[in-house]
Amino acid sequence: MAEMLTLSRHILQRARHHREASGDFNLLMSHIATATKVVSRMVAKAGLLNVLGKTGDTNVQGEKVTKLDIIANDMLQAMLDDLPMVSATASEEDVSFVPTSAGATSGRYLIAFDPLDGSSNIDANVSIGTIFSVRRRANVDCNPTEADFLGAGNELVAAGYAVYGSSTMFVYTTGQGVDGFTLDPGVGEFVLSHPNMRLPDTCKCLSVNHANRLRWMGGTRAYVDHVVSRAEPRYSATTGRYIGSLVADFHRNLIYGGIFLYPADSVTPGGKLRLLFEAQPLAMIIEQAGGAASDGVRRILDIQPDGLHARAPLIIGNTVDVRLYEQMVSVHD
Ligand code: AHG
Ligand code: MN
Ligand code: MN
Repeated sequence: MAEMLTLSRHILQRARHHREASGDFNLLMSHIATATKVVSRMVAKAGLLNVLGKTGDTNVQGEKVTKLDIIANDMLQAMLDDLPMVSATASEEDVSFVPTSAGATSGRYLIAFDPLDGSSNIDANVSIGTIFSVRRRANVDCNPTEADFLGAGNELVAAGYAVYGSSTMFVYTTGQGVDGFTLDPGVGEFVLSHPNMRLPDTCKCLSVNHANRLRWMGGTRAYVDHVVSRAEPRYSATTGRYIGSLVADFHRNLIYGGIFLYPADSVTPGGKLRLLFEAQPLAMIIEQAGGAASDGVRRILDIQPDGLHARAPLIIGNTVDVRLYEQMVSVHD
């Protein structure tokens, strides 16, 4: 029987050569993984559990909140609240960070998450996901502050996501490459299925919301037109794919190769996507898989957030395509 390398075993194996992935870290990650398994079950049965649709509330982002946004958010917070090594959590859904009951002053880890990414797709049964990142506090034995969360992404010690698709996958990095795990529902474990994930060097997918074209700046239009014109052999087989769930678009491109753009535009000059909860974790993953992530000018992982809910344009995927985009922005914007 093929070896069943579970997520927990994988992290323990990594602990032997990576000081971050200590026993503490394994416990932290297994709690995040457990929360995603519960969300996965909820998502799979959403239509039967009366958890579809909106709550009627609006979140700090000014977006309509879905019932599953809240369920996933509460699940993740509850799962992390009892961990003495976690000082605080921050969520895209909440105005401010939340100190944990068990580790507020003693914990050295901070967790930021987008509990449910792609919420607008839930009612249509389209793939959605959860995104998270882990950072360490500079100081312990004191209360956590918002400033503790506002480090550049190059300080992250781990990043990952769950994607609730035809199967549920868990993909993560601790800075030693990217590994993907598939949930075996019969066992209830994430099992290694995609070891050492590398971004293929083919720009198979161009992933952007073309309905926003009239809002784009010159550099974005020039780059997209260059790809669509198939002016280079590199783009001869490039196809358009846009799911509208960042995690699903990102995961597809990680498997096939490609570029995802949510650029600065005339309506969202600072970008739509959240720097802490979406761009930073996916930027760490893509760089660990051999790709690049930029806001069109700067490396995403070098950007210092100016607040918990800072947003950023996100251009992420094959390095050569991200660099070409940046070059077109420098000429046209
Ligand atoms: P969330 O559901 O966490 O708010 O994220 C939605 C984001 C992201 O998943 C996706 O790439 C983007 O919104 C789609 O935006 P548009 O519908 O404007 O294209
Ligand atoms: Mn999101
Ligand atoms: Mn979300």
